[in-house]
Order: sequence, then structure tokens, then C-alpha cells
Amino acid sequence: MMTPRLFLSPPHMSGNELKYIAEAFESNYIAPLGPMVDRFEQSIHDLTLTPHALALSSATAALHLALRVLGITSGDIVLASSFTFIGSITPILYQNAIPYFIDSDTQSWNIDPDLLEKAIAAAPKKPKALILTHLYGQCADLQKIIQICDAHGIYLIEDAAESLGASYDGKQSGTFGIFGVYSFNGNKILTTSGGGMLVSTNKKLIDKARFYSTQARDDAPHYEHTDFGYNYRMSNILAAIGVAQMKVLEERITSRRKIFDWYSEELNDISEITFMPELSNTRGNRWLSTLTFERTDPNTIRLALEEHNIESRPLWKPMHLQPLFKDSLRTQNGTAQSLFEKGLCLPSGTQMTREDVTRVSSLLKKALK
Ligand SMILES: Cc1ncc(COP(=O)(O)O)c(C=O)c1O
Repeated sequence: MMTPRLFLSPPHMSGNELKYIAEAFESNYIAPLGPMVDRFEQSIHDLTLTPHALALSSATAALHLALRVLGITSGDIVLASSFTFIGSITPILYQNAIPYFIDSDTQSWNIDPDLLEKAIAAAPKKPKALILTHLYGQCADLQKIIQICDAHGIYLIEDAAESLGASYDGKQSGTFGIFGVYSFNGNKILTTSGGGMLVSTNKKLIDKARFYSTQARDDAPHYEHTDFGYNYRMSNILAAIGVAQMKVLEERITSRRKIFDWYSEELNDISEITFMPELSNTRGNRWLSTLTFERTDPNTIRLALEEHNIESRPLWKPMHLQPLFKDSLRTQNGTAQSLFEKGLCLPSGTQMTREDVTRVSSLLKKALK
């Protein structure tokens, strides 16, 4: 009989989710919004110390609202990480704005600050915003990037979809820009099955985002509209899952980091393997344990693991290499492409045991021979 599938990053419930869902049912807030949404937002305040949070249907929706509220519109240039997931970028297209992709550095795998400077200088007109991804739960080189954005009057929006709980100089990722965004999609470190959160220190901006997230309803007893919005708010039922999940965030980070350390111990002596680095003033959440192979095609490893019902996945294909963006603006140094060609994400679910990690590592080593 086949051993049960080892997934890349399956949901991990704390055991209290159903209790909070039952509470939501008892209150009959089977609706978007309600007391659980307030509690979920409060838990994000408590974690991030950011005064304003807005629970939404997804991180993609949160990024879209951020751009809309900042007045990013048709023909505006928005700088963005090339090495990211497409949900980070589609909101730029929703606004008919123009993405400008920046390549990564090797120390963080996130945006290279030197290239960011170059891109700003080379842009056909002044970019209005930067969407900066903290990939796989690792913080980008924030200090330099913030300096550059400030010097050029560019809004910084942090895509912290994958980096909930990660910190830079002891401060939470997602709290450095004018907006920060977290995802609670099914594969993330915490999940509400699907969901997102927008945070900001600016109340006016969050109030505006809230207005747009509920169909831009003016203040009237009937339905009055002077502008258009979206149906982007989070369901009270899903927020109940989020309330329970947020209580175990620290445990989950500890587990993800432990899994990464186990892989490192198991595979340390293989010279062609390099693990994703971590900047010294940061603590990532190690959402996924990722590595690169110097000589071996990672797809041979992926297929070898698949034979044993183990899910692994290539690293994100950079946006500037996507057919959709073949003609896009970009400043490259080849890092993201090289990471994509050499890299693999290993199973990293927080229910994994040491034995699981040893099994995956042994199969990986066998495939390398
Ligand atoms: C870096 C990044 N940005 C944005 C998103 C979009 O998040 P969501 O699925 O909540 O819309 C994701 C993941 O799903 C992501 O990994």
C-alpha cells in the first residue's frame, strides 16, 4: 500500500477552529463581517502592533485595494519583485498600470536594492509604487529598499503574503511600508482556507480600503454610489478559523524553522546543495524549506520524490520569464532565473516529524547518486 501523500504545505488546524466556528454560528453572523472578523483583525494588531487592519477575501484583493487607494491608475508604473507568485502582480494589471520587474540578490533572494536604483533611473517615467515580496517567509533587504523608496517618493507596499510572523530588526514584516499584506490561503503558514489582511498605520487609507471592499456604499439608508468598489470582505465564518490559527503562529514558526534545520543537518554535507539564506538581522518564518542544486536538475529530484508520493515544487518562475510578461519592463541580473532553474521547495508542513524529514532527505540523496 502507498504511504499517505506528503504534501508541500498542508493546512494545520490547532484544534480550536470548530469551537470558534460554532460560536460564529450561535451568533448567527453567517455573513461577511461580524464579531469574528473584528477579533481576527485585533489578533493582527496584537501581533504586528500596526493600528489598522482589514480582513479581506484574499491577499490579492488586499494588494488591489492598496493600489486603488493610493491612486495607482492606468499607465502608472509599479515596480515589483520578479521572483514572486503572480498574485503579487495581477493587482497591477487590474488597475491597468504597468509592472516593472526587478531581479533578486543572492543574500535574500528578494529584490536587489542596487537593481532597484537602476530600475528607477531607467524607468520611462517616475514609478509610483513598489510591491516588495518577502519570499518564502524571508525578509527583503528592507533598510536599503526603504531608503531608496523614500528618496524617490515611491510608495512601498509589502507583499508579506508568505512571511506572516517574520521579522526584520525585531519588527514584523508587513509593517514597514505604507501598506502590508498577509495571505491566509490554504498553503500558508496559517490558513482560513482563503483570506487576506491589509494593514497600515494610516487610518484614512484603511478606511478608504474598507469602503472600496464593500462595494463603495455611500452613507445612506438605501444603496447610494458615487464610486465603484468590490466585494472583497472576509466571511465571519472564515475569520473564526483565523482567530484560532493566530493563537498558534509562534508554534508554527518554531516548527517550520525546526524542519528547515533538520533538512540542513541531513543534507549539509552535500556540496552541490545551498539552502535559502537568511539576512543576519532577520528571522524568517521558513514557510517553505527551499534549496538549490549546483549540478543536478531539480526536476529529477522532484520526480524521484513524486514516485514515493512526496510533493515538492520548483521555485516560483520569475515574472519576467512568464509568457504573459514577455514584453514587460525589467531590470535583471540573472539571479531569479538561476534560482528558478536550480531550486526546489521541499515538503515543509508543520505536522512533519523528524522521521519524515529523514525519509525525504534519504530519497533526495539517493536520487542525487
Ligand atoms: C507572494 C505572494 N503574493 C500574493 C499571494 C496571493 O495571496 P492570496 O492567495 O491570498 O490571494 C500569494 C499566495 O497565494 C503569494 O505567495
